[in-house]
Amino acid sequence: MLNTSTDEYQEVISAVQGFYARKDSAHNLEHALRVRDWGRKIAQAENAELRAVELAAILHDIGRSGTLEKTHAESSAALGKNVLQKLGYSEDLIQKVIGAVVSHSREGGHEPLSLEAKVLYDADKLDFVGPIGIARLFTWGGKEGKPFFGPNSCEEFYCERIRNYANHLFTDSAKKYFMPLFEYSEDFWHQLSKLKA
Ligand SMILES: [Fe+2]
Ligand SMILES: [Fe+2]
Repeated sequence: MLNTSTDEYQEVISAVQGFYARKDSAHNLEHALRVRDWGRKIAQAENAELRAVELAAILHDIGRSGTLEKTHAESSAALGKNVLQKLGYSEDLIQKVIGAVVSHSREGGHEPLSLEAKVLYDADKLDFVGPIGIARLFTWGGKEGKPFFGPNSCEEFYCERIRNYANHLFTDSAKKYFMPLFEYSEDFWHQLSKLKA
């Protein structure tokens, strides 16, 4: 059980807990808080606005089971805007946060434009490499009924999506954190593919 009672953003975390409780464990509150930790490290190195990055990370996946007309990033942005408005955050900060949330995934064609949006984008990708990334991939793949190998598999998702992240990160700090974790993932897949039936 997470103890966030002394957290600076405790009110926001409490407000989003219910949304994340309905997600698979690859996209739950723990994921959001790991992304926030990565975001904080990258934001400090890149001189991005810390508050906007932290709030965006906490909110970024709350809309994953939203309506089909919207991407999960668009749903998260709409829900996140509501949460922040109810808690009395300034419109200026809300705009920055929501701009980052809506572009943390490229599904809807939203490009990360601000530095804070780029930091969130990169921070989210760091949670898909290394030991945590592998654990998340198989947790999510299991829920989706994906086999390890072959068409529409965990391996295919790794090769077509996660491997591409290596060339699509925005910030130098994220690249520095990404590479050793990515090498771990590459080695894991190399070892696993030797065991293919
Ligand atoms: Fe997401
Ligand atoms: Fe995410």
